[in-house]
Amino acid sequence: MLLSIEHVRKAYPGQRPVLQDVSLALDHGETLALTGESGSGKSTLLNLAGALDAFDSGEITLDGKALSALDDTGRADLRRDRVALVFQQFNLIPSLTVGQNLAFHARLGGRLDKAWLSELSHRLGLADLHDRYPENLSGGQQQRVAIGRALAARPKLLLADEPTGNLDENASREVLDLMLELVRETGAALLLVTHSVEIANRLDRRAHLAGGKIT
Ligand SMILES: Nc1ncnc2c1ncn2[C@@H]1O[C@H](COP(=O)(O)OP(=O)(O)OP(=O)(O)O)[C@@H](O)[C@H]1O
Ligand SMILES: [Mg+2]
Repeated sequence: MLLSIEHVRKAYPGQRPVLQDVSLALDHGETLALTGESGSGKSTLLNLAGALDAFDSGEITLDGKALSALDDTGRADLRRDRVALVFQQFNLIPSLTVGQNLAFHARLGGRLDKAWLSELSHRLGLADLHDRYPENLSGGQQQRVAIGRALAARPKLLLADEPTGNLDENASREVLDLMLELVRETGAALLLVTHSVEIANRLDRRAHLAGGKIT
């Protein structure tokens, strides 16, 4: 098992718990769609799964490491080695070119593989765009850069929070096709938040978050 979430509870300070008792497991290479109403805690759960934030009780095990035992530094180390994220808002670094954005996380983690990066760039249709800045790209192009950046370091777990939420139907299909193809090829597991039943149906499994629990 790559990711195991067991009876996790998470409350933000001064609020009722967002996650009351969440259990969920994800195997190596498996793809899972997470749905749920706005405010149900999907992004919160994604952050916990990616070791970005701490939880109150329960346990999350990521690639054999119990997250409750880690401090901020321990979580950061684990994240850098195993996890990558793709967001609805693309979150590229505006002052860096496409080429620099693509290499950014892999380089930080000391895992830059130039041949793989070049293949990714071609597969994602970005080879002629390396010198451009994010502001001069379409939304679909920006998200393809974000996917390349995420997969450049060959993460075991890709977390995607409504990755096609800002794209039109064509760009959305294109981005999802490429993401699923590359995820399956690299053997990464994917936890993807979406509001679309059509997208959810393309993944191996589906989970729905409501009332602080998986239903
Ligand atoms: N950093 C934070 N501090 C305090 N409250 C937060 C924080 N992040 C999220 N929340 C609250 O937690 C609840 C769940 O938020 P979350 O972003 O996880 O929902 P979501 O399911 O991703 O919603 P959406 O579909 O709109 O993205 C909301 O009530 C939100 O206001
Ligand atoms: Mg969200």
